[in-house]
Amino acid sequence: MDSNIFDPVGAVFKPDQNVDYTAALEKYFQDHPEEIERLKELANGIPSTSVNIPSTDACTVNNVSAAIIQKKNIKFISLEGIDGSGKTTQVNYIKELIEKSGKEVVVTREPGGTVIAESIRNILLNTTEKISSKMEIILNFAARQDHIDKIIKPAIQNGSIVLSDRYVDSTYAYQVHGRGMDINFVNMMRQHVCNDVMPDITFYFDIPVEKAMARISADRKLDRFEKEKIDFHLRVRDGYLKHYAYEVHGRVVIIDATKSIEEIQGIIQLHLIYHGLISS
Ligand code: ADP
Ligand code: TYD
Repeated sequence: MDSNIFDPVGAVFKPDQNVDYTAALEKYFQDHPEEIERLKELANGIPSTSVNIPSTDACTVNNVSAAIIQKKNIKFISLEGIDGSGKTTQVNYIKELIEKSGKEVVVTREPGGTVIAESIRNILLNTTEKISSKMEIILNFAARQDHIDKIIKPAIQNGSIVLSDRYVDSTYAYQVHGRGMDINFVNMMRQHVCNDVMPDITFYFDIPVEKAMARISADRKLDRFEKEKIDFHLRVRDGYLKHYAYEVHGRVVIIDATKSIEEIQGIIQLHLIYHGLISS
């Protein structure tokens, strides 16, 4: 087994169908027993960490790599997941956790966050007019540009922590994988609009579509995306997993979002302690 296949910071990791990632992972821990100790220490009495969430072998490896990634100076946090995965439920908890450590938190969301971006959100989520998939991408990036310029960048410069319910990964999951749009177009837009404004850590809430749908249909009026057929949501979830396994490394923590609200809080807290954003 090529020892470069599994790099703990995720830089070298390239999933390959012919590779047994579980074996690679086992071998990695055999060769690096100190990492097991570090993960145990991280867990610190919390029954479950985000390690060992077997959505796919590739994601498990990527996930472990995120869990043992080098410590970062966190200024920008994003939450991602399919509709009903439980992101929004955790926002206030994370905000309070960080505020307790004496830091200011700017809570925001996408599409949205500014007056103009919220108007665009209203169109994207509620219009009954037809919107092409290309227009969905452009509107999301238009809203994102305003959001970055007026909220995200100034907050970071001000020393605040930005906590955003969704960011650009949503465009890959929903428009590229969900709608089948060209990834090159989205890459180009991301480069021009986001440039280097990317989250330092992303908590991705992974959950089977049926479970998430059962949660939302029970408690709210469905928006334009939530009304999509189950196949669309299956592609979006699969899209997130592909995006995180193949395109993005080292900033994503994959959370098993079927766990209880309290267990998920514990996982998030663990990661924020690890990176030194909050104290234990
Ligand atoms: P999202 O923002 O990802 O769409 P929400 O946070 O709005 O999801 O949660 C959707 C629904 O699921 C809400 O009714 C919420 O109370 C419930 N919920 C959130 N997290 C959990 C959880 N871990 N277990 C069970 N239900 C949850
Ligand atoms: P949101 O309130 O985040 O949904 P929920 O709380 O149910 O998860 O609604 C935003 C919707 O917009 C969501 O369905 C995902 C979609 N979206 C995109 O399709 N592309 C994007 O780039 C973004 C940011 C969101």
